[in-house]
Amino acid sequence: MSRQILVTNALPYANGDIHLGHLVGYIQADIWVRYQRMQGHTVHYVCADDTHGTPVMLRAEKEGITPEALINRVHGEHLRDFTDFDVTFDNYHSTHSAENRQFAEDIYGKLQAAGLIETRAIEQFYDPVKAMFLPDRFIKGECPKCGALDQYGDNCEVCGAAYAPTDLKNPVSAVSGAKPEMRSSEHYFFKLSDPRAVDFLRDWTQGSDANGARRLQSEAANKMKEWLGEPGENKLSDWDISRDAPYFGFEIPGAPGKYFYVWLDAPIGYFASFKNLADKTGRIDISRFIDGAAAGKSNTELVHFIGKDILYFHALFWPAMLHFAGYRTPTQLAVNGFLTVDGAKMSKSRGTFITARSYTEQKLNPAWLRYYFAAKSNGTMEDVDLNLDDMIAKVNSDLVGKFINIASRCAGFITKRFDGKLAAPDLDAMAVYRSSIEAGEVARAFEGRDYSRALREIMRLADAANQYVNDHKPWELVKDPANTERLHVVCSTALNQFRVLAGLLKPILPTVAEQVEAFLDIPPLRWSQLTDTLPAGHAIAPYGHMLTRVERKQIDALIEANKASLAPTPAPEASSRQRHAEAQQKDAQAATTADAHIGIDDFTKVDLRIARIVSAEHVEGADKLLRLQLDIGEDKPRQVFAGIKSAYDPATLVGRHTVMVANLAPRKMKFGMSEGMVLAASDDTGATPGLFILSPDAGATPGMRVK
Ligand code: MSP
Ligand code: ZN
Repeated sequence: MSRQILVTNALPYANGDIHLGHLVGYIQADIWVRYQRMQGHTVHYVCADDTHGTPVMLRAEKEGITPEALINRVHGEHLRDFTDFDVTFDNYHSTHSAENRQFAEDIYGKLQAAGLIETRAIEQFYDPVKAMFLPDRFIKGECPKCGALDQYGDNCEVCGAAYAPTDLKNPVSAVSGAKPEMRSSEHYFFKLSDPRAVDFLRDWTQGSDANGARRLQSEAANKMKEWLGEPGENKLSDWDISRDAPYFGFEIPGAPGKYFYVWLDAPIGYFASFKNLADKTGRIDISRFIDGAAAGKSNTELVHFIGKDILYFHALFWPAMLHFAGYRTPTQLAVNGFLTVDGAKMSKSRGTFITARSYTEQKLNPAWLRYYFAAKSNGTMEDVDLNLDDMIAKVNSDLVGKFINIASRCAGFITKRFDGKLAAPDLDAMAVYRSSIEAGEVARAFEGRDYSRALREIMRLADAANQYVNDHKPWELVKDPANTERLHVVCSTALNQFRVLAGLLKPILPTVAEQVEAFLDIPPLRWSQLTDTLPAGHAIAPYGHMLTRVERKQIDALIEANKASLAPTPAPEASSRQRHAEAQQKDAQAATTADAHIGIDDFTKVDLRIARIVSAEHVEGADKLLRLQLDIGEDKPRQVFAGIKSAYDPATLVGRHTVMVANLAPRKMKFGMSEGMVLAASDDTGATPGLFILSPDAGATPGMRVK
């Protein structure tokens, strides 16, 4: 029976670039969608940008543009990145849209009517300079547990403690640097602690859809049990769904100055994008997919692909909102783990925080990444490691060496000797293919999103094809005219096997599959035709190159292109504050995601000055730091702590000229204020140890601008 499925991917924030970490989930979803379509099912695949919230508002302000201008620009960038990686949504919309406002107001109104919205006053940090309430991620201070300086308001990156921003010692606003004050304000809450909600979620999170498939992977279902507690226990708190002006978002009806929290309208954006698609095409009845009663009758499915950090939102808040507002709830959550590169968190200084854009700009083939991510995806929430050497090996040996090789070894004979026409294949040699497809191993693996298992079976079949060619040696057969017929059959058989492999790989490698379809001159491959063979006399096109090997130097260039150009000496790794396991706390991601390229305007924001080192000394209790006093032509020298103790004897530094960043926000360190940063070169690979500060040519004087 033909299925009807609405598939979504998490909506990326409109304040950062798409990077390879994001692509894990998008590629997994795109593969699943393409597989379902090859099976003849109807799939609507939608996404959008997640545009609202404080980070977008502040970033736009910093760039001197309106939030609308910012989100329009980013929308174009994101869509281009997805398109480049063959992640092909039917619609890519925005949460800042009329459809989204309409759905958000409707859902909110229905929750209110159900008695599930409540208001109460809460005390919160307020920035008196910026005149705004501060999200947790925009407050910094000293960790209440370990005393580490400069920690965000939700958890400590040094000792890992989680706490409330009010627990921080000496809190400051990360927006203005001002000391925040406590102020009271009325907030709107979704009453998740209501017994109706708790009972509903207890059932829902452990349940199955109408077809008997579990809604949540087992790890996710277990997490939910933990979060929900034992029956009778109630661990859920009400969810704060409002934010005070100034805020970029939708104002709450009947509540001037109060806005929907970004996470309220973000998942609603799935429906908004779908409605926008339906309005554009005029051919989809969306109520069958999103209305509670209608969806129940029509057996449509709703499948969300998300990363594990946002499980909390999608397995608790979202289904509860939908259920109590009379909408349909998701059929399945497909949750992916996080990307690591060479076993470690992505890192800007190591160059492994790789943007989608840099990958295509460096002319790497997106098919390589799709293939590798598929090979590492097993349908669980486990993290996915992009091991760069392993990627090179897998792509070159499997994809090029095993798959493409079949065609490149056999096509020439058909073109040159047989006028491009195939003979009927050897059905005995096709039997292993036929029986694999009939047994459905690859299909089941795709259905369960265990693409690594699908690829193992596909590569087993590719091995069989290569073995067949090796056994029959067309390059030998061609030498004796008596073997002409045999040569024709062998090459035709191998190309038939190649056709089936291309079909099996098509969800993962759509562009390559299209090239194969053109080469074999066949209509788009569908799953039900994979047991067929091409008839005798079928003409193929001349073989053209389809896929090249990856070379290590291309990967090295990619890493180089992603290395942050200014590595701040004592500042913490930018990527270490990327993400939080506990999704609940993923309030407002600070706008720290950097582009691979910067414009000249960005560069000139950095005020580089010639500095004379007035004094340099060891710092008691610090293993890495020297305390420098730097003359940059100001009334008094600047104090800067530089992590160069391992490389310099302080006495040799005094009197030298060097280069410093003069407009870096002052940082309070354990040993005093650091009022800038000196620049030093180092080899991240460790091949050449040491640190090297810069020297200007003779004649440069303190305070000169470097640009
Ligand atoms: N805007 C929210 C999602 C709202 S959905 C209604 C968000 N955006 S995000 O840009 O931070 O992330 C988008 C998707 O990418 C999420 O599914 C997230 O889990 C995933 N990933 C972001 N970084 C990732 C890795 N490093 N690794 C794997 N997935 C990652 O969250
Ligand atoms: Zn701490």
